[in-house]
Amino acid sequence: MKGQPIGIFDSGVGGLTVAHAIKQILPAESLIYFGDTAHLPYGDKSEESIRFYSGKITEFLLGHNAKVVLIACNSASASAFEFLKKEFGDKTILLDVIDPVVDYIGTRHFSKIGVIGTKRTISSGTYELKVNAISPGTSIVSLPTPLFVPMIEEGFIFDDISNAIIRTYLSNDSLAGIQALILGCTHYPIIRNQISKFFNFNIEVVDSGRIVSVILRDILEKNDLLNDSGIVKDQFFVSDYTYYFEKIARTFFEGEINLSKADIWN
Ligand code: DGL
Repeated sequence: MKGQPIGIFDSGVGGLTVAHAIKQILPAESLIYFGDTAHLPYGDKSEESIRFYSGKITEFLLGHNAKVVLIACNSASASAFEFLKKEFGDKTILLDVIDPVVDYIGTRHFSKIGVIGTKRTISSGTYELKVNAISPGTSIVSLPTPLFVPMIEEGFIFDDISNAIIRTYLSNDSLAGIQALILGCTHYPIIRNQISKFFNFNIEVVDSGRIVSVILRDILEKNDLLNDSGIVKDQFFVSDYTYYFEKIARTFFEGEINLSKADIWN
């Protein structure tokens, strides 16, 4: 069991920012990653569809011996985490990317924070609900920023187009006076520096990668599941392969990646 891989999934390549963070904290672990590129973006999909896709992907990861399953997608964490716990909670340890971030916010005692994410994540109200429950003294404003995902996927990151989109979204009056901004989408760490710069580096920009990786390390330790075999093998699957996905996957993971196509819907 200890030598089995950590299962991770996202709608596409965004979750590779989390996979990268896991590699920094847990270099001795093997990963099995699934990016549902055939159904990207999840941020515009119904809860019902996201639950269906997430269930199939979890079955795939468990079929490939994943010792834990991490939902490295906020849209799926908001829409499918409870469903997956009911369906698979007796078979594996499941983690999402929202609860660890909310727990972290609880330790910081901010008076006002913001969260940005896909339409699905923001309209679910999950961050507000969970932050209000854990940190009643923290007011939270949320803003959907749906253009960020296609912008990043298309490689508009350090240019006039991305700067204009970032400025337009983040100038929203509702974000005035925030002390921290949660990046409620696993694609957004790619533009983390530009976001920090927009706020003149005066606020804390919170992304889930490192926070979730530390929680994951604790869970593996507690359950005696840390890989001590000395063998590390990472596997990356997508539901629709293009060379472009592979190229952008390398940017997100910050390392060499070969993607394999897996047809899991039939
Ligand atoms: N990476 C996904 C998330 O964290 C967003 C991308 C999508 O909409 O599919 O929500």
